[in-house]
Amino acid sequence: MTDDLRARLTLPRYPRSADYDPQWMIDNVMGPNPLWLLEWLSPALDLTAGARVLDLGCGKALTSIFLAREYGVRVTAADLWIKPSDNWARIQVAGCADTVTPVLAEAHELPFADGYFDAIVSVDAFHYFGTDDLYLGYLSRFLRPGGALGVVVPGLIAELEDVPEHLAPFWEPGFWTFHSPQWWHRHWSRSDAVEVKVADLLDDGWRDWAHWNDVCAEVSEDDFVREFGGREAEMLRVDAGRTLGFTRVVARRV
Ligand SMILES: C[S@@+](CC[C@H](N)C(=O)[O-])C[C@H]1O[C@@H](n2cnc3c(N)ncnc32)[C@H](O)[C@@H]1O
Repeated sequence: MTDDLRARLTLPRYPRSADYDPQWMIDNVMGPNPLWLLEWLSPALDLTAGARVLDLGCGKALTSIFLAREYGVRVTAADLWIKPSDNWARIQVAGCADTVTPVLAEAHELPFADGYFDAIVSVDAFHYFGTDDLYLGYLSRFLRPGGALGVVVPGLIAELEDVPEHLAPFWEPGFWTFHSPQWWHRHWSRSDAVEVKVADLLDDGWRDWAHWNDVCAEVSEDDFVREFGGREAEMLRVDAGRTLGFTRVVARRV
């Protein structure tokens, strides 16, 4: 079963993620596979060993552990809903006690020094707090000049005026926080705080998203994950990439 699971969750474009225990990823699921999304994002950040990285909205710290292990960086794993003690247990088991620090943090009241981080990373979280026009000006001050900010969020192929008919049965108000790469590019550029380097969509991202949800819906022991994952996968298949995908945005502090 484990070999079968590993085979199903091994996708050629995410070779680093394939080294991680698939059951561990499923047991800690909070949304689309965060390691896959981070593996897509990371090369655009030019991370160097020893760099100080803030993983903002890290959830269960899977991405923080991945960053520390794969790139040798020192990570501050900051989250609101998941308590630092829960993440500390995961971080220790993963052998990252010296490189990942769990912190309870609200994205608008970050307890860090100005200019402290070489990079700020956020996977499947930034849309919860980052669409506010004033937010980037606030967040960017925690980056050193030239430091990188990189996020991946559920996104839109293009901005919407109305809910597409085929998505109406699935739509939730929170989906209005999803935006296209062009929207994010303009949103960040207007802040004057950063220079946008990348704003794009993951090719056929919806397929990976649906596949991950299918596997979680089948394998997870959590009723909510099984039900929610299955319904979301159904939505993604109905949409078939017409509307939904993943947006990546990378910028440097000016
Ligand atoms: C869908 S989960 C994703 C977690 C993790 N990044 C992952 O991909 O598995 C969204 C995360 O955003 C965090 N979040 C939402 N609003 C936040 C806020 N205002 N400040 C800090 N974190 C926030 C939540 O605590 C939650 O863990």
